[in-house]
Amino acid sequence: MLRIGLLTSGGDCQALNATMRAIVKTIMNKSKEPVKVYGFEDGYQGLIYGRYRTMAWADFSGILTQGGTILGTSRTPFKRLDIPEADGVDKVAAMKKNYAKLQLDCLFMLGGNGSTKTANRLAQEGLNVIALPKTIDNDTYGTDLTFGFTSAIDVATRYLDEIKTTASSHGRVFVVEIMGHKVGWIPLYAGVAGGADVILIPEIPYEMGNVVKAIEKREKDGGRFAIVAVAEGAISKEEAALPKKEYKARVAARTSPSVAYDIADQIAAATGREVRVGIPGHTQRGGIPDAQDRIFATQCGVEAAMACLKGTFGVMVAQVGGAMTLVPLQEVAGKLKYVDTNSDLVREARQLGISFGDK
Ligand code: F6P
Repeated sequence: MLRIGLLTSGGDCQALNATMRAIVKTIMNKSKEPVKVYGFEDGYQGLIYGRYRTMAWADFSGILTQGGTILGTSRTPFKRLDIPEADGVDKVAAMKKNYAKLQLDCLFMLGGNGSTKTANRLAQEGLNVIALPKTIDNDTYGTDLTFGFTSAIDVATRYLDEIKTTASSHGRVFVVEIMGHKVGWIPLYAGVAGGADVILIPEIPYEMGNVVKAIEKREKDGGRFAIVAVAEGAISKEEAALPKKEYKARVAARTSPSVAYDIADQIAAATGREVRVGIPGHTQRGGIPDAQDRIFATQCGVEAAMACLKGTFGVMVAQVGGAMTLVPLQEVAGKLKYVDTNSDLVREARQLGISFGDK
């Protein structure tokens, strides 16, 4: 009997179910022994507190296009791993105990950066763990792509498309805040796909004077409206120069609910234009996976299942240079992958006339 466990951890995304379907279908298709599948509920919480379901092939059929996660998810911060819960539960010990109790041969963990750190910790504690790179943010180190990313780009792009018509009717400037945590992958890709005039990402600190210049130039060129795509982690040059602690205090002291409102206020004051804010928010993680995500999720699931059948553990499935591969968890866990500011896409966006607010 081959016993496997599955969990989905951290913020959800559109292709989690597609990935689990591929893992289970492949394992059941290729395993020489019968397979028992345990699905842990709400991420690591299910493994800690022994909340799981025994699952069958049928549970994973028909879920390729279903967004969210059939297992539920939650955040279990890595930095709190060794701090016992209020009920006295030692999280690492509890996870080891439940893994042993179910006699698991492998735990498949679908998660982003923080979750991968925990997976690495469990691997170091002797558990057979295989991680799969989930996140809309595409910030997982060691893989060119994460599942969830392309669907999120699509949602954000459609949002920009819709904003554009009303922005055009009213001749307004719109500041649209796009998710991505500390990196700018979604704003960059959606900004290009959605025809933004200015894209502000954390990797390229901006100066408000340059943003204003870009909006005024567009108006002079005959553009009736302007779209500024702002990463939720966008940062000005002045803020970037601050000591980390001071910057954090500044962010905490913001009176507006998000960075987009701050930027919109400054643009309105400097240009005298009517400025509005749009925030697609969690819709970027919602709905069905797009075709590319379904394909990549399937590839990740199949590769993870095959790694398990070959007895390769302590790894994360990755795509590097277009090829599927496995990378050691300890080499990638917890490191962020930032946008390469010298990449072709950034260069081409600049050549097209998109401003990143840095010059
Ligand atoms: O990591 C995915 C993500 O959607 C980020 O883009 C965003 O910063 C964060 O999660 C939002 O988290 P929450 O769902 O806890 O509000």
